[in-house]
Amino acid sequence: MIVAIPKETFVGECRVALTPSRIGSLIKAGFEIRIEAGAGVAAGFADAVYQQRQAVIVADRGSLLSAADVVLQVRTAGANPEFGHKDLAFMKPGAVIIGLAEPLMQRSAIEAFAGGKVVLLAMELIPRISRAQSMDALSSMASLSGYKAVLMAVNELPRICPMMMTAAGTITPAKVLVIGAGVAGLQAVATARRLGAAVSAYDVRPAVKEQILSLGAKFVELPLETKDSQTAGGYAKEQSAEQQHRQSELMASVVRESDVVISTAAIPGKKAPVLVTAEMVGNMKAGAVIVDLAAGSGGNCELTKPGQTVEVGGVRIMGPVNLPSTLAYHASELYSNNVSNLLLHLTKAGQVVLDDKDQITHDVLVTRDGQVVNAGVRAAWGLPSSTPS
Ligand code: NAI
Repeated sequence: MIVAIPKETFVGECRVALTPSRIGSLIKAGFEIRIEAGAGVAAGFADAVYQQRQAVIVADRGSLLSAADVVLQVRTAGANPEFGHKDLAFMKPGAVIIGLAEPLMQRSAIEAFAGGKVVLLAMELIPRISRAQSMDALSSMASLSGYKAVLMAVNELPRICPMMMTAAGTITPAKVLVIGAGVAGLQAVATARRLGAAVSAYDVRPAVKEQILSLGAKFVELPLETKDSQTAGGYAKEQSAEQQHRQSELMASVVRESDVVISTAAIPGKKAPVLVTAEMVGNMKAGAVIVDLAAGSGGNCELTKPGQTVEVGGVRIMGPVNLPSTLAYHASELYSNNVSNLLLHLTKAGQVVLDDKDQITHDVLVTRDGQVVNAGVRAAWGLPSSTPS
């Protein structure tokens, strides 16, 4: 089977879906690897390195895609709404596309892929179960983003992070607050601690308290009812507007004292909760910085503008939307491992076999035989769970 890796077409996307280090394992599994000329250059992987590992470089995107049995991409379908569908014209019916696809939010893009009769597997839908950890692209990208968010914040800050005792006086450590201690949040906590900041973190799931403490940070205790805050799968449940309001009120004093706020609070498939209001920003110190990692899903701060930095009363609010691309080398290495591990999981005797009884396959499969077959995606769109025969 031919596996093709086209160059990413989403504006500003520097990652590549397969890095040279994973070519060997795919060739060993029986695949032929073809890659579009220059696809890895922005991430630091030259064509020559792919060739050394026995990949074939193809100059023409159309020829690459039309020969492909499997296409590996970082952004496809809904994750590249402007250009993703253009590739469909080249692809043969039944070709398998694996990539980030934003299936829950971008219905028309996904329907176009169903109409193109391709098999779409969305990397966002990898279940967070032990067996699938090595395929979990959202987690690997979130880890890098949590790290980068802290670097961005301290770079903007007019003060240093660690405590410093000098002949000219003692500097106290910067106060960093992390809201949401999932994958990105815990990495932000760890990074800010390494830089010597005094770090506090809050999450609605009390289960993360121990993890926060083990990283040397303080857990912010709020007198909120958290008994029912978590789903069976370990995700936070969506709060009511009233609960969100109460949380904001209680967090106000911690936010006011912070030099940096990194917010990562998210509920899968939903708009991000607004936890930092304009009024709270108004009470922060001039020079403070907010990095809102939830900018792409509406933002945790009321004043966030996705993809921009805004300044309000001397407080800078950054709303980055594609941080993994700014760390394209390592983001590509990790993504390439995630996507290759999924492909190998699906491979039996050199062929891709889609066994719907396997939970991983069942969860990531979005379109097949011209239909949107994923029950979770259909439910999110308000469609009945089974497809019409
Ligand atoms: P995650 O699901 O692992 O963590 C989110 C955390 O937020 C969970 O621990 C959850 O309990 C918590 N949470 C939910 N509601 C809360 C509330 N009201 N108060 C406090 N905590 C609350 O998600 P992950 O992977 O860490 O991603 C976090 C966010 O970062 C997501 O919005 C994701 O889309 C975004 N992200 C942004 C990137 C960028 O470039 N801007 C790149 C990667 C991820």
